Amino acid sequence: MGTGFDMGEQPPQTVQAGGGERCHADTVPCPRPVHGVRDRRYGASFLGIDGEVGVRQLLQELFKSQGSGAIGEAHRLDLAPRPHPHRSLPVSGATQASVMVQDRDSIAGGSHIGLEIGESQARSPTKRAQGVLAGLERAAAVRIGPEFRGRGSHPHMIDPRADGPSSGHAVTATIDPSPPTATYVPGEPRSEFMTTDTSIANTVTWPAHDPATWRILPDSYVPLDQERIATLLAAEWERFSASTPESGALSARSRRTLPLGVPSSFQYWDPHPVSVVSAKGAWLMDVDGRRLLDLSMGFGAMLVGHLNPAVVAAVTAALQTGTLFVTPAPSASDMADRFCERFDLDQVRFANSGTEADMYAVRAARAYTGRRAIIKIEGGYHGGYDALSVSVKPEIAEAGPEDAPVAVVPFEVEAGTVYPVPYNNLERLAQILDQHGRDIAAVVMEPVLENIGIVLPDAGYLVGVRQLCDDHGVLLVFDEVKTGLTAGYGGAAQRLGVKPDLVTLAKSIGGGLPLAAFGGTAEVMATVTDGRMAHFGTYNGNPLVMAAAAAVDEICTRQALAAAEQVNDKALEDADAIIREYALPAHTVGFGVKGAITWAPTPVRNYRDYKRTDFAIAELSWLWGVNRGVLTPPGLDEQWLVSLAHTHEDMASLTGEFRELAEALRS
Ligand SMILES: Cc1ncc(COP(=O)(O)O)c(C=O)c1O
Repeated sequence: MGTGFDMGEQPPQTVQAGGGERCHADTVPCPRPVHGVRDRRYGASFLGIDGEVGVRQLLQELFKSQGSGAIGEAHRLDLAPRPHPHRSLPVSGATQASVMVQDRDSIAGGSHIGLEIGESQARSPTKRAQGVLAGLERAAAVRIGPEFRGRGSHPHMIDPRADGPSSGHAVTATIDPSPPTATYVPGEPRSEFMTTDTSIANTVTWPAHDPATWRILPDSYVPLDQERIATLLAAEWERFSASTPESGALSARSRRTLPLGVPSSFQYWDPHPVSVVSAKGAWLMDVDGRRLLDLSMGFGAMLVGHLNPAVVAAVTAALQTGTLFVTPAPSASDMADRFCERFDLDQVRFANSGTEADMYAVRAARAYTGRRAIIKIEGGYHGGYDALSVSVKPEIAEAGPEDAPVAVVPFEVEAGTVYPVPYNNLERLAQILDQHGRDIAAVVMEPVLENIGIVLPDAGYLVGVRQLCDDHGVLLVFDEVKTGLTAGYGGAAQRLGVKPDLVTLAKSIGGGLPLAAFGGTAEVMATVTDGRMAHFGTYNGNPLVMAAAAAVDEICTRQALAAAEQVNDKALEDADAIIREYALPAHTVGFGVKGAITWAPTPVRNYRDYKRTDFAIAELSWLWGVNRGVLTPPGLDEQWLVSLAHTHEDMASLTGEFRELAEALRS
């Protein structure tokens, strides 16, 4: 089955020599200019240690720019470093290899490049080695030296545990100074914008982000004129009100019976939200007759596109055979098998919302460990369950020190004992676990934070969390309600190579119907089997939703998701070029098929960083899009979703209006 939609011919993949991350490692300044290192030569070894920052940066750029497809459909390059045995290797249906590429000019340094090799290649060491070779070569700009070829079948060459260049497998690879296939030249800052240039000081450093995620930072920027933003914002709000009279009228009418006039407070904004009458593919029609490109896509739930024909057909068929039996049905057993296979779970149970799945995951962790307290990430949102409503978006004045936040509990919530910790901060997590570990049942977290923009894990952070949990007998729960299929075929856990004890899923797995799930290891799920934790639900696994889920599972092949990710990557690259051209204090972040522009010139690595971003320009940027027919989520801190129905042309609407905004900001 394809994507379900008739997508027409996809444009051929362009190979870009640009993009990728800009800054790495704690102590090393960002090398600039980034493209200046292209003409250097590199020695490559399939052995070794992490190291030289410039090489790593260049290679990540080159490899990331190839994206999926260049290595063969199912062989997406995965640049995740492999610093710890907890990384789950191999992932299901494929294996991963680690390649160290070493800078000739700095013999002690080097960089691991992880490659995911498709199933057929994974079976023998020889094929794996050939797969790595082919992968490197197909990365266009990399040429493998002849001395390597004779050793192509040596399993050591792809053994991530082998160490040290002294092991004798060093070979030569050349990075072509002008890759013949490169078509993308990042936007150079235009000189007229650079008169008050604020170069990011070379001394400002931060840890690398996990290489399976996307972040590009600007080399320099010019501050925005806040008065101009305020003027533009006022004009845009007037334009909004003038162009949405029917939405305004419906909102006024609805407030009589629906608080705020909306079924969920997330849907509300001042003076009124846009009301929608229909949706198809990537597009919405609002009550004012405006056609809007939907980049919110049900907060990610509409990953397969609105009214995906395959989902519609499956649900229509289920309507003929019954919508609710409250007794077992083949459809639920089939879906459990599919989810366990795809997400690498022993067992799974269904629920109806992310809130519910998260609640049961916490209860299962408590039942399993016999402990009650939990740790969550400051700023993380997990739905409405009390224990997870702590420190969701606390006021900074109430939240305590940045490195040791205190729990901020809404008055109406009975949370129990919850310790909020900053994301990307292993020291604080270790401290809390040292102090209270014996009372703590679980660390509950999104592997990538997706409710404050997109906040990426530092390289090695999740591995560290996994290790600390194990050290203290604490369960690790990944909330994959938002990541899930939007992160890739097997979700964020597999993409990032860290296996949690429990995972929760919702949104993208249901094709727009209310489906959630929690699952994990047989030991923890045994709490359900033996009654230590009660799990019930009238609508759990109902055949209507199961039918939709089965269709989604069929549609979301590795190939289909990789194609959508390519569309996303191109949009992120285009947005990055605009940021550079107009010297905006912003950067792009992405994960899987999701992307966002973060209004800060330096990385947002936790909630406090997020609170320091520029909310005025974020509001203007969002509203600017709404007024030009591009609807991103209303939270200002969400992200866009490229569904299987979105095309490059659709995403050009986003980058087109973003360019117009940049012009307006600088004119
Ligand atoms: C990460 C995360 N977890 C849980 C939830 C709650 O899901 P639901 O709205 O289906 O209850 C959400 C909702 O946005 C979410 O983003």
